[in-house]
Order: sequence, then C-alpha cells, then structure tokens
Amino acid sequence: VPIANIRNFCIIAHIDHGKSTLADKLLQLTGTIQKREMKEQFLDNMDLERERGITIKLQAARMRYVLESEPYCLNLIDTPGHVDFSYEVSRSLAACEGALLVVDASQGVEAQTLANVYLALENNLEIIPVLNKIDLPGAEPDRVSRDIEEIIGLDCSDAIHCSAKEGIGITDILNAIITRIPPPKDTAGSPLRALIFDSYYDPYKGVIVYFRIVDGTIKKGDRIYFMASGKDYVADEIGVLSPNQLPVNELYSGEVGYISASIRSVADARVGDTITHFRRRAESSLPGYEEARSMVFCGLFPVDADQFPELRDALEKLQLNDAALKFEPESSSAMGFGFRCGFLGLLHMEIVQERLEREYNLTLITTAPSVVYRVNCINGDTMVGDFFDQLKSRSKGYASMEYTFVGYRESELVKLDIHINGEPVEPLATIVHKDKAYAVGRALTQKLKELIPRQMFKLPIQACIGSKVIASESLSAIRKDVLSKCYGGDITRKKKLLKKQAEGKKRMKAIGKVEVPQEAFMAVLRLE
Ligand code: GTP
Repeated sequence: VPIANIRNFCIIAHIDHGKSTLADKLLQLTGTIQKREMKEQFLDNMDLERERGITIKLQAARMRYVLESEPYCLNLIDTPGHVDFSYEVSRSLAACEGALLVVDASQGVEAQTLANVYLALENNLEIIPVLNKIDLPGAEPDRVSRDIEEIIGLDCSDAIHCSAKEGIGITDILNAIITRIPPPKDTAGSPLRALIFDSYYDPYKGVIVYFRIVDGTIKKGDRIYFMASGKDYVADEIGVLSPNQLPVNELYSGEVGYISASIRSVADARVGDTITHFRRRAESSLPGYEEARSMVFCGLFPVDADQFPELRDALEKLQLNDAALKFEPESSSAMGFGFRCGFLGLLHMEIVQERLEREYNLTLITTAPSVVYRVNCINGDTMVGDFFDQLKSRSKGYASMEYTFVGYRESELVKLDIHINGEPVEPLATIVHKDKAYAVGRALTQKLKELIPRQMFKLPIQACIGSKVIASESLSAIRKDVLSKCYGGDITRKKKLLKKQAEGKKRMKAIGKVEVPQEAFMAVLRLE
C-alpha cells in the first residue's frame, strides 16, 4: 500500500481495562488471525505475562483493512503496562502516529492511564478515546467521558463506545484509526533511520529486532549499523509481522518490521537505538535513547551451592534477552557464592527471579532489595524501602510514580549488622538513618526470632552497629521431630510428613549451623 494508507498506532490502557481483548478483536475482524489460531490473547504470549495478567514485553502486528474500497495497512504496536517499563512504553509510542486510549466505562480514569496519556501527548500522538465494557450494567460512558475531558483535557465528543468482549464498536474503531490518525511522513529518500521498539533473543536466529522506519529504506542483505551500541551486522532477513514473521525484500519509511542479523545479544540492539546503514549513515540518531540504569539491587544465591554455575549460565541467557538486567558475582562467608543483580524496579526483579526458578529449575534465596548508596567512611576509607507500596496504598492506587536519577544526597546513615549465632550475616545488614537504628534493630531481631525456626541449640540473634550490640533476642532450643505425632507404623503417613518437611526446607539457606528461611531475608522490608 502507498505510505498515505499506512497507520501506526498503539493502545494505551490501565491494567484490566481490556487492551488485550480489544487487540484480539481487531486482529480477528481484519482477518489477521483466525479465532482458532488464537491462544486466548495473541499479543501477550509469554506464560508469565498471561499468569500475572500484565503485559511486559511489547510486540507488533500488521493488519489489512479495506475502507471504501481503499486498502489500508494498520500496524498495531503493543506497549507494556507497568511503571518499571516506562522507557519501553515511551519508545513504542514514539514509533506511532496515534493511540487508542481505552478506558473501562465502569471504572473510569486510573493512574496508569494518566501516565501513559502524558507520554502519548509528549510524543504528539493523535489520541482516540475508546470507552470499553459498555455491555456491563455498571457502565457509565458519559460520566467517564466527562472525567477524561476534565482530568486529561482531551475532547471526548467523538469518543467511541465499545465492548471488546461482545464485539461492539470494533468497526467504528478501525474507521477512526484511518480517518483520525495521520499517515507517516514520506522520507524514503533520506538516509535510513529506524527506531528499535522491541527486541528478543531467539536461540536459533540470534536477536530479532522490531523497528519502525522513520526515514529511508532498508533491503535484505544491507549492512546495518546500530548508532548507540556502535555494532554493525548484515540484515540476513527482514520482514513484517502479520503477526507471524513474514520475510520481504524491502521496507520503506513509515513501515514496521523485523530484522534478523545473527545479533548475539539484545545489548547490541537495544530498545530506543537507531538503525542506519553502515556506509550511508544518518547524521544524527533518533531522539530519546537512554542507557539502561539499574535502580534496584539484590543478591541472588542458590540454596544449593552446587547450582552456582547453573545460575551463572541462566543469568547469561536471560541477559541476552534483557538488556536491563545487570549482574556481577558476589560472595560472602554467610551466603557462599551468588550474584549481585541490578533491575529496573521491583516487578522486573520478581519476574527475573520467577523465570530463573521456573525456566531454569533453580532454587534461590533473594536478599532484600536496596538502592545504591555512596558511603564515606569516618576513618577516612574510601526507592527506597516500601515507598512505592506506601504511595499506592495511601493514594488507594491512584498515585503513580516515575523515577529518574537526580544524583546523591547526603544523610546521616549507619550500617546495621545482624549477627546470628555470633556470626555477621551480610545479606541481612541494612543501612538506616541513625535516629532509627535502635527501633529498626529491635523490630528486626524480633521479626527474625519469629521467622527463623528453632534449632537444636540456643540461638542468639543480635543487631549491631560496628561492635556495639544495640538489640538482642534469643531463640530457645528444641528438637523438632515431625514423626513424634505418628504412633505406630503407618509408613505412608510418615513418608508424607517427611516429604512435607523436606519441601518446607527447600527455601532455607544454611548459614553456619543455622537454617535461615527466605522470608528472613525480606524481613527488613516488612517491619511495621
Ligand atoms: P493487561 O494486559 O493486564 O494490561 O490487561 P488488559 O487491559 O489487556 O485487559 P484484558 O483484555 O486482559 O481484559 C481484562 C478483563 O476484562 C478480562 O477478564 C476481559 O475478559 C474483560 N473484558 C475486556 N473487555 C471487556 C468488555 O468489553 N466487557 C466486559 N464485560 N469485560 C471485558
């Protein structure tokens, strides 16, 4: 189709307002995918995503649609929904000229809607308001329209009423995409500039890069150059997403597609980077590229020390697919060998941990997440806990948070060490404000006393600043015999109990002679 008949758009919505359901209906109605092909929701195709019901990685699909006997090509670019991934949202929006703003007509405007609408406005997108779920008895599309006008200042006189579930209003949406969203500008003659809005690692083909051509054209076999990473590769295969990969020979400005070029790691072709030609290079890259910066750090240790090499391999593999994941080896006398890992945020951290455990069969202990401190020692050597949870609960979920690094601030902090059985346990140490050290020390030792199972010997648990003990608890000794409750010889019952006990043990880390459960490492986050 001519460039005047291309439309690039995305859908922005708060979690659960029906983005995936609407995307599916658009794909079905345009005949892009058949109902039977559909694994429920096509665009979210990672298991973990489906389970958690959130979109993590973005993807794209090309649809063909005929309006008044004119053929159009509509590219839907998916956006991830969580604050940890707001940089990726901003890059996927930058690849579009318009956005559908989907709002649940029984709920109204919510936090994530706002954050993403502002990103869309910054990117000068044409925004089409869509009021979804009008089939619900509680739906109030007119009230919600007024809210959108008041809160966002967006004209809702042409807002579309729809039910993605019942398939109502879908044709109106397709028509609005064509009539209201502008086509891309024709700059096919300029040097190539293509914006990467997603990439993933394929074990057979290497990294597959999803891009939108902003200027110029790209042909199969071209030698391409990634302007931020400085790497160059030969484009072995280029194609479109229909929504499965379909190879083509050439793509022009305004089009959306993929490249496979035997790229070894997603770090070579990161989201936000600009692709140009190796020989005829663009003068400047497209705006908005950011280095991935880890905001939240934690230690990851295998429960079974023998799994250390497997953990390293698994992290290396995940990193091929996740340029924002950082890690370096860490060891401590208490925990043995593991890794200190950096993440975009807490959700990103949880996802990585779950993938390591599920896809790589590792059993891991994670230490309490923390942010970076720069410490000046007095002897001359040279997000912060639960803020997000508090923000969400105090604002009943309406507040949203975005963060950028603004620099370091000075504070009077002390390092609070925890000694278990006389041994310092590094991963339990925290940095706290000096005025709060005693209270935190007391609360933490009490909490640990609840969490650590009683041992066969008396166990002291102490909080210290330097060599000074500021709080102390002790756990009395017991002998834990799970079989004592079984009289006589029902062997299957005995086996069951032993198995249960073994499972209960799984997430325990042996520190010296003491088995410390996973919860203990998170205790500092759960203090009242
Ligand atoms: P994330 O992927 O988490 O961002 O969610 P989403 O916005 O993609 O929402 P999804 O499409 O998964 O829909 C959320 C829930 O709303 C599902 O249970 C859908 O079946 C339901 N739903 C979606 N559209 C409609 C609708 O028009 N009417 C009704 N009654 N339910 C709907």
